Amino acid sequence: MVDPASGAGALLLRPLRQYVQEWDGSNALGALLRAAKSFTGVENDPFAAWIGNAVLAAELLPLWVRVPERERAPLPQLISTGNGLDLQFDSASVVLMNPPYGRAALDADSRRRWASSLYGHANWYAVFLHAAVERVVSGGVVAAVLPASFLGGAYYRRLRRFLGERAPLTRLRLIDDRSGVFASGVLQETCLAVFHKGAPTTRVACSTQVVNGRVRSVDLGRQALPTVDPELPWLLPRARADVALIHAASQMTRRLRDYGWKASTGPLVWNRHKRQISAAECSGAVPILWAADIAAGTVRRNTARDAQRWLMPRERDGFMVLTEPAVLVQRTTAPEQPRRLIVACLTAQTLRDWGGAVVVENHVNVLRPIDGSDGRLSAELLTALLNTPTLDRLYRCLTGTVAVSAYELEALPLPPDETLAALAGVPSNEVAGVLAKAFA
Ligand SMILES: C[S@@+](CC[C@H](N)C(=O)[O-])C[C@H]1O[C@@H](n2cnc3c(N)ncnc32)[C@H](O)[C@@H]1O
Repeated sequence: MVDPASGAGALLLRPLRQYVQEWDGSNALGALLRAAKSFTGVENDPFAAWIGNAVLAAELLPLWVRVPERERAPLPQLISTGNGLDLQFDSASVVLMNPPYGRAALDADSRRRWASSLYGHANWYAVFLHAAVERVVSGGVVAAVLPASFLGGAYYRRLRRFLGERAPLTRLRLIDDRSGVFASGVLQETCLAVFHKGAPTTRVACSTQVVNGRVRSVDLGRQALPTVDPELPWLLPRARADVALIHAASQMTRRLRDYGWKASTGPLVWNRHKRQISAAECSGAVPILWAADIAAGTVRRNTARDAQRWLMPRERDGFMVLTEPAVLVQRTTAPEQPRRLIVACLTAQTLRDWGGAVVVENHVNVLRPIDGSDGRLSAELLTALLNTPTLDRLYRCLTGTVAVSAYELEALPLPPDETLAALAGVPSNEVAGVLAKAFA
């Protein structure tokens, strides 16, 4: 068993203690030598490694005292100081880890090294996962504490394929209600994930676990992962009520693009255009539409944003100006917010009220019809659909972060043509009820 980012050995402690408890009392020296071979950690912080070695060695004292004095050697150092990502192939039966998280600035050589699981920005935990899969023998297990973003995010699409082909996810336990668990305020959903190298399975035993104050697990059954394209987000339940929803959604093949819509990120990164932004309207200026202007299904000018309301576009900024109706979705939500999808329709009338053109800021997703789309799904109906509790829940099952991305919006299962036809003309406050039945 190896922990390639072992810190002070917290994850090795329990299995090592169990090993000592299960020792049959014979050949203490042999048992000590076996422990030194069977439990190893790597840590790049020498001080953490030093503490870990002291803590883990203390666990071995019951064996050490039973070694005849003349045969005693110093207690083994189970953690070595080094790089847990160093090349190691097929050398462990179990990798157990809580790897570092965060954006990894990889040089060109490292990007080549991890290329088969990289797509866009790299995250350290994904690199550690790749290395762990290489390190474990065929039939072995990688068990890790991970952010749940790899289940859905665009940057993890290649990693999902890599895992799907080499070490399928077989168990997933989502950590629910974990306020106070991470001292550094980790915002992402967190999970315990188990991967089996070389396993044929495409089903995942899912559960959730509440850890805040009391430990309570809820079994969510065995769920299927996408088989046609493993790069797609892995839609998995977060609660028992989601199981039926996921099952219904797995039969739904329609996505935004099938209904003639595309999603992109609002083009204005305001701090790159500070000099062009002002509170005052002047000739040629275009109003900026901020995430705060999206509320309760409609676009409303939020006065809190008035100090940065107008942008004076330069000639080359034309691509940023939106002159057509669209559906707008906030890109970031807070963990405690009851909804992930906060959506408003920028109708033709609203656009006229704003002067016929807007520039959408970067914290907003913009859904627009693809040229030549057949109009089967109107902007109003799309807004009503995304504002339903059903699609909000489904979206949560697709993503492990509080961010709402264009990629995941495009991956969200939508109801079939018949349901859309049945919804045409239904008042928007009744759409939720009809949709809930379609996904029941
Ligand atoms: C999230 S902590 C987990 C520590 C421990 N496994 C635990 O659960 O308490 C990640 C650890 O990885 C270490 N680390 C970061 N990069 C590393 C690398 N390239 N090789 C080895 N350890 C690394 C950090 O110093 C930190 O101790």
